[in-house]
Amino acid sequence: MDGHPSRKTVLRAALAAGVSTPAALMGVPALARTVSGTTNGPAPELTPTCDDGDDPTPPQMEGPYFKPNSPRRTSLLEPGTPGVRLTVTGYVFGLACRPLGGVLLDFWQADVNGAYDNAGFRFRGHQFTGGGGAFTLTTIVPGLYPGRTRHLHVKVQAPGRPVLTTQLYFPGEPRNNTDALFDPRLLMTVRDAGGAREAAFDFVLDVPQTPGPGPTPPPGGTTWTVGTAYRPGDRVTYGGAAYACLQGHTAQPGWEPPSAPALWRVG
Ligand SMILES: [Fe+2]
Repeated sequence: MDGHPSRKTVLRAALAAGVSTPAALMGVPALARTVSGTTNGPAPELTPTCDDGDDPTPPQMEGPYFKPNSPRRTSLLEPGTPGVRLTVTGYVFGLACRPLGGVLLDFWQADVNGAYDNAGFRFRGHQFTGGGGAFTLTTIVPGLYPGRTRHLHVKVQAPGRPVLTTQLYFPGEPRNNTDALFDPRLLMTVRDAGGAREAAFDFVLDVPQTPGPGPTPPPGGTTWTVGTAYRPGDRVTYGGAAYACLQGHTAQPGWEPPSAPALWRVG
C-alpha cells in the first residue's frame, strides 16, 4: 500500500455515504451521487478508478480451534464478558469491486486470557452480509496466547463459492514482528474510541463480477448511449430531459446523466 487511498478505502467512503451501486463501484464519479442539486460550480472530484491492483484477501491457516455450527449473532459479548470492547466493521467485495450480499462470515477468537472455548461457543458466531455487503462484529480484543500475535479468525464464503479461511491482525502489536503467520495485508485499521476499539477491514473475495447493464432509460427520448466519448459541452437527452456534458468521458452503464452530476448538468 502506498500513500494513495486504496480502492477499498474509496469504496468504503462511497458506501458509507450511502452512494448507490453499481456506479459507486465502477470507479465512476461515485461521490457525485452524494452531491444533489449541484448543477453549477465546479464538478466534484472524480472517485479514483478501481484499479489499485488489490488481490483477493489472502488465506491463512485455520488453526486447531475452529468449530462448526457457531450461533448466528453479530455480537459475541455475553453478560459480564471481560475485555476491551471491539467492533469490527467492513464490507465484502468481489473482483469487480462491487459489494457481495449474503456472504457468510464465521468468526472465532480467544477470550481475554487467550483461551478458546472448545466446549461451548463463547467468542464464536456467524453472520451474513446484507445486500450492501456490510458486516459488523461486536466483541472484545482477543487475548494473547503463546506463539502467536493478536488475531481474529474468520471464514468468509459467498453463496456457492469456496470458503476463504483467514485471520485478521492488529497494528502496533510487538508480536507482529515475530509471528511467522502475520501478514500485513490482513491488518485491520484500529482506532481508540473512548476506551473501546473500533476496527475496520474489507474483504475481497475471488468472485467474478461483471458490471450491471444499468437502468432502463425512462420514457421520453434518450440520445445518451453507452460507449460514446462525450466532450465538455456535448448535449444529450435522457428520459426527455436535456443535459450538457461537464467533463470529457466515455459513457458507461451507471453513468447515466441523472446519476452523474459530476459529468452532466441539466439544461
Ligand atoms: Fe488463534
